Amino acid sequence: MKRILTGITPSGYPHLGNYIGAIKPSLDLLDENCESFLFIADLHAVIKVSDPEKLNELSNSIAMAWLASGLDPDKTNFYRQSDIPEITELAWLLSCITEKGLLNRAHAYKAAMDINNESGKKDIDEGISVGLFSYPLLMASDILTPNATHVPVGKDQQQHLEITRDIAEKFNRKYGDFFNVPEAVIKDEKTVLGTDGRKMSKSYNNIIPLLGDEKDLRKAVMKIVTNSQEPGEKKDWKDNTLFGIYSSFASEEKQVEMKNMFNDGVGWGDAKQKVFEELNQILKPIREKYLELNSNQKHIEEVLKAGAEKVRKQTLPSIKEVKRLVGINKL
Ligand code: TRP
Repeated sequence: MKRILTGITPSGYPHLGNYIGAIKPSLDLLDENCESFLFIADLHAVIKVSDPEKLNELSNSIAMAWLASGLDPDKTNFYRQSDIPEITELAWLLSCITEKGLLNRAHAYKAAMDINNESGKKDIDEGISVGLFSYPLLMASDILTPNATHVPVGKDQQQHLEITRDIAEKFNRKYGDFFNVPEAVIKDEKTVLGTDGRKMSKSYNNIIPLLGDEKDLRKAVMKIVTNSQEPGEKKDWKDNTLFGIYSSFASEEKQVEMKNMFNDGVGWGDAKQKVFEELNQILKPIREKYLELNSNQKHIEEVLKAGAEKVRKQTLPSIKEVKRLVGINKL
């Protein structure tokens, strides 16, 4: 049976890019013939979020984003990474068989070194935490602790899956076949564009919020960059940010309609109004569910606690077996 697993790091408020790029495709992948593990990667977020209150709030909003988007906690193992201590325990054991060079090549670490290099720092590692450096290792542990077989992720995470496979194979060779060697399920991803035309990301401040109210949504859509063409002028939909964003959620039919409007010289204001209306239709049910969840925080905590309990029924015996294989036993 397939064991599908994926996590979202709560390092920013949930946005349309998270929904289209991660949440929806993961939920769409689930069916009766798989076991699924969807989680909030809060331990990963400690690397980036230094304000404790903020971290807590972000974890909470990612939990609500999953649930409001239709995750059914009765059918899916839904949990918070930090509630599963077996993950951090396994991470240490994996670190003992992982060559440092494998992590030297990981792109998050390389990007951090590049920034130091460009700004002329003498020490190339200045300000880089061990947490950031070993982050692919913790991710490997997220995946291997519940022994996942399939991991839906964006292209930017492909390298981490390769690292995970390397580590799993090495463990299996050394101690005997124990871990599944997991496969990445890469969505034939079109990057979801942000309001400024770059990839939608909280670090660019160009997001369309997933859980905001109608006013927030309208404001974000109105912010999408266009150009100085007047109404009546024919507009090119290729390489156009407004059309790019629209195409990441609108049906083929709707996209054709929009292309025709561009051809016919629609004004930017009217085109944005249409994008807003279509998007609002998709996000309305999510927003309504979110408001309901938000008024009952205790329920969310209970859901997460129950999820962790269910997962630990599997991960506790599993870590015990790993330790036995490694040679950590009761005397
Ligand atoms: N690193 C992933 C990201 O930034 C999130 C993540 C953490 C994850 N652990 C995972 C994804 C395990 C898949 C499997 O998007």
